[in-house]
Amino acid sequence: MIDLRSDTATRPTPGMRAAIAEAAVGDEQKREDPSVNELQERAAALLGQEAAVFLPTATMANQIALKLHGRPGDMLLAERDAHVVIYEYGGAAAHAGLLVHAIPGVAGRITVEQLEAAAAPSTKVADQRAAVLALEDTHNSSGGRCWPLDELEAVIGAARALGLATHLDGARLLNAAVAQGIAPAAIAGRFDTVTLCLSKGLGCPLGAILAGRGDAIERAWREKHLFGGAMRQAGIVAAAGTYALDNHVERLADDHARARRLADAWGDAGLPVDPAQVETNFVQLDVGALGLGVSEALGLLREAGVGLSTTIHPTVVRAVTHLDVGDDDVDRAATLVPQALEGHGRA
Ligand SMILES: Cc1ncc(COP(=O)(O)O)c(C=O)c1O
Repeated sequence: MIDLRSDTATRPTPGMRAAIAEAAVGDEQKREDPSVNELQERAAALLGQEAAVFLPTATMANQIALKLHGRPGDMLLAERDAHVVIYEYGGAAAHAGLLVHAIPGVAGRITVEQLEAAAAPSTKVADQRAAVLALEDTHNSSGGRCWPLDELEAVIGAARALGLATHLDGARLLNAAVAQGIAPAAIAGRFDTVTLCLSKGLGCPLGAILAGRGDAIERAWREKHLFGGAMRQAGIVAAAGTYALDNHVERLADDHARARRLADAWGDAGLPVDPAQVETNFVQLDVGALGLGVSEALGLLREAGVGLSTTIHPTVVRAVTHLDVGDDDVDRAATLVPQALEGHGRA
């Protein structure tokens, strides 16, 4: 199967496996694992932050960040379809005790006006303290869309003026940076804390980074222990992270070009895709416009040997390009997908 379900499908390359095999290791909990320490330093510098901590997953990184920034009963402001709102099992409430105020965005982005309205204290509507703003770049549910820097700067500036802490769910931050041709720190350095996932486009088997100011990351270490995420010889996986930072960042542009080729080919074949919305490695396909249900469409595609996946939108499926998808796969999927869907549904 040509697996376009998610960029989490990547398996470690031979080069990454060699880096894993050769990794120097120690006790990570005691901060004595040299490979973990090296990755943390590299990641902090890349993200324009003082310090970083290595964690098993991006979900844990987001959840720890929320605990750092809010007290139980405080409000988290985030875009309505953000990962922290819809895909983390209510962790913002369960772990940090935060009330989520979900703001409807466009392409995953919210405006200064929306933020100010949401954070404004009002004795009539809400007396909870708005404590933290979490943004997502690239934004998963909108199809891997990026924040233009000027819009980001305006919203972060407004958040600071409102006294909010700011967190970036940058699980796919490096896709955003590569797509826009800007340094990751130019995006990530503006936030109080930043999550970066290593197991998506970067191709590691697991792992994530939470970066921020030195004092925040010290507090994050305590939370890491509390979450059961403090590990031992974790250098085995951290070495994969450092390898990925050296070898798998610039190549994200290949994933983006392949997503664009798929979108163009499917659009040319009459499928309902909007190539203008393809900014990184996702292509969204509105199978409802073909008169097909999502499960039916995914089933037809699977029979044809192509894996796509569901999205939060009830009629939309997505394809995601990644390290394990080459040009041949894209060429084949470019014709297999329209063939598989042709003649089915109402259209
Ligand atoms: C934007 C975003 N944030 C966080 C996560 C969570 O990543 P993990 O599966 O490593 O917990 C994901 C996973 O898909 C994601 O897309």
